Amino acid sequence: MNHTRIKYLLDGPLAELPAELPAFVARLKEDRDAVVLAHYYVPPAVQDLADYVGDSFYLAKLAKTLPQSTIVLAGVEFMGESAKLLNPQKTVLLPEPAADCPMAHMVSRRTIDAARERFGDDLAIACYVNSTVEVKSWCDVCVTSSNAVKICSELPQSNILFIPDRNLGRYVASQVPEKNIILNPGFCPRHEVIALDELIDIKEAHPDALVLAHPECTAEVLAEADYIGSTSGIIEYAATSSASKFIIVTVRGVLHELKRRTAGQNKEFFFTKTPPTCINMDMVTVDKLVSCLITGSGEVEIQLDDEARTRAALTLDRMLEYAAR
Ligand code: 13P
Ligand code: SF4
Repeated sequence: MNHTRIKYLLDGPLAELPAELPAFVARLKEDRDAVVLAHYYVPPAVQDLADYVGDSFYLAKLAKTLPQSTIVLAGVEFMGESAKLLNPQKTVLLPEPAADCPMAHMVSRRTIDAARERFGDDLAIACYVNSTVEVKSWCDVCVTSSNAVKICSELPQSNILFIPDRNLGRYVASQVPEKNIILNPGFCPRHEVIALDELIDIKEAHPDALVLAHPECTAEVLAEADYIGSTSGIIEYAATSSASKFIIVTVRGVLHELKRRTAGQNKEFFFTKTPPTCINMDMVTVDKLVSCLITGSGEVEIQLDDEARTRAALTLDRMLEYAAR
């Protein structure tokens, strides 16, 4: 099938995706020596075309181990940047370069400088991986939602400035009370708006359901949770639990993997009345994945400024080291 026909077919509704598409994408990947990594929040049709699907930590860790010369990151910008930071010699492509994460920018240099001045050597700056390369370059170590508690508890310093997410930072503080965790006012606009009253309503409708929540949610929402964890953690918990009903308190994209992992188990998943969606992740569509595999360069290719890159890469390397301990 030629490129023009694929483009024509992809302009139609997703339900009409051509049956030949997976084989066509596989050929494009082979021609380009490319591997496709997708986050659980991107549209299901994109997840289905990926070689690997996972949470931010899994994707970053995995990116360092793959033999292909090109990595296509179906996710938001910071995920592609992390893959490039960890693999500077490889080509890293982002199907939709405009798919950014608003939280990645929610911290100012002044906050960093003020904390360093106040606490001196007894301060570590822990940076949620949902951050720009420049922000990472100001920090000491990166963390993700699946390893933030472990890494913060193992850092030798007693004061930790946690940026940019105040909700994940607050959750870490509750789990690591021996550390003085200083919060920054950043947040995920998709998790922050999950409404407590909608959660209470769905809990009342399904009193036997377990509540599984992502730590980017507010403290009042997390207080209602039976389990708090990253997207992978939530999926793993639901797949291995003996319970059969779950209220999922994170972006709805995880439903695809939840259904796949629990096929045949008769499990039910519920969301709040306004199911959380991430408009940034939704921008990563099948047609953009295909055209990025076809073009392979230009605006879809991640290029990083040298100076910030070296410092930012160190924070990710430190994360991998701490996580492996
Ligand atoms: P995890 O992939 O760490 O679960 O984080 C969710 C998220 O918001 C990614 O942008
Ligand atoms: Fe950013 Fe939130 Fe979307 Fe994740 S879900 S990419 S933190 S806006």
